[in-house]
Amino acid sequence: TPKVDTAAVAKSDAAHRLKIGTYFAVWWGLNVVFNIYNKKVLNAYPMPWLTSTLSLAAGSAIMLISWALKIVDPPEVDADFWKSLAPVALAHTIGHVAATVSMSKVAVSFTHIIKSSEPAFSVIIQKLVFGENFPLPVYLSLLPIIGGCGLAAATELNFNMTGFAGAMISNIAFVFRNIFSKKGMSKGKNVGGMNYYACLSMMSLVFLTPFAFAVEGPKAWTTGWQAARLAHGNQILWWVVAQSVFYHLYNQVSYMSLNEISPLTFSIGNTMKRVTVIVSSIIIFHTKVLPINALGAAIAIFGTFLYSQVKQ
Ligand code: 3PG
Repeated sequence: TPKVDTAAVAKSDAAHRLKIGTYFAVWWGLNVVFNIYNKKVLNAYPMPWLTSTLSLAAGSAIMLISWALKIVDPPEVDADFWKSLAPVALAHTIGHVAATVSMSKVAVSFTHIIKSSEPAFSVIIQKLVFGENFPLPVYLSLLPIIGGCGLAAATELNFNMTGFAGAMISNIAFVFRNIFSKKGMSKGKNVGGMNYYACLSMMSLVFLTPFAFAVEGPKAWTTGWQAARLAHGNQILWWVVAQSVFYHLYNQVSYMSLNEISPLTFSIGNTMKRVTVIVSSIIIFHTKVLPINALGAAIAIFGTFLYSQVKQ
């Protein structure tokens, strides 16, 4: 009877919500741990190009081993798949290294406040590049996002231009990454979120490695490492391992959820994730925040909430 059908639908709907809820909670938790170790490493060893390369290398190694040991079935991919992955990997590489450079220059909270305006970049890019139009309330909801971020940036105690620009570049790059990857995941060969992100890591690693050598290079890495070892002993090595492994894990989980939700839900989940990161990093690193600065961040995040309401 129709009654039974409704109950079944409600049950599978609840199961789906629970699954997505679990993905989100794990994604946010892993991301907080990543951000803490990443900043500890960058404070002690400010080599963002190397550490962002190592994050991709760790992910690639984890997945190659998982495939070899048959813990995860390797994906069936062809030349077309890699071709369509290339723009995604390029955007991922740029967004990743730009965010890491940003966090090497400013507080983690500041980078994430700027990155909480990613939905605004998404609307602007979809309008300017893809000619997509949105209803007026969507554009209006961008005002508090942009105004709040502007206020937070203008009142930031340790403002640094490279730190600010890195977070902005990361916003632009990740909007393209999310649009391209959602398209790539849903057409052609069916590669699930986990394997899709594995291939993305590997290709990004290939793209980033030569630039890491060119920008920083082995000489700076060795000198910096000796200084970091002197100041922090062996624990610095474990911090690097932790930031690399947690980077892979949180991204993998986020891609597993992107596989099942719309890019809009994904970007809202991502912004709410930043609230967790901003609050926990301010507590852990004793970041000094002025009330006006916090107000700017709160307005920006409230704007993202408004945006999600009107966009739906
Ligand atoms: C990175 O290093 O890629 C950034 O810290 C990631 O930013 P995200 O929070 O948007 O994943």
